[in-house]
Amino acid sequence: MTPPTKIALIGFMGSGKTTTAARLAPMLGTALYEMDTLIVNASGLDSIPTIFERLGEPRFRQLETSVAETLSTLREGVISTGGGVISNPLNLQHLRANGGVIIYLKASFETVSSRVGDLSTRPLFKEPARAAELYRARAPLYEAAADLVVSTDGLTEDSVAQQVHHLLRGAL
Ligand code: S3P
Repeated sequence: MTPPTKIALIGFMGSGKTTTAARLAPMLGTALYEMDTLIVNASGLDSIPTIFERLGEPRFRQLETSVAETLSTLREGVISTGGGVISNPLNLQHLRANGGVIIYLKASFETVSSRVGDLSTRPLFKEPARAAELYRARAPLYEAAADLVVSTDGLTEDSVAQQVHHLLRGAL
């Protein structure tokens, strides 16, 4: 198999980016980069909800873009992004730098709603109607940004990681 390259997982909140990335990185023998964690570290605060509360979403987006920029120099690794990463084309440019491959974990709104779990950790999923609106607005952006798409409805976390791994073997 071709050596692992730089891979970024995109998709709506609850689409399984974090768990899939955590499984995929060891499968590929490469490092894991969790953008939300890097954003929290860069903020000096303790969590994403605290960043939204204290600094506001615009500042969160700035931090997200500066983290994406630091990842632009990466040559190899699996990056788990936040659901809003597609809202700024600059972020996508950074993720694509050095041959980065963008993979969309596609899931229905019903699926992501059932997977999000603790809503208090996701400021933008607190109101279901607003989340549904955001989902509709973003769906075409994920499609447009993706080099590869994996439909995850009805799949276990392990099989999503395996599907991505399988697709990458064919694509790289
Ligand atoms: C966001 C998604 C979150 C996090 C922040 C904003 C979004 O990440 O980055 O709450 O705009 O969709 P997950 O997709 O990992 O929940």
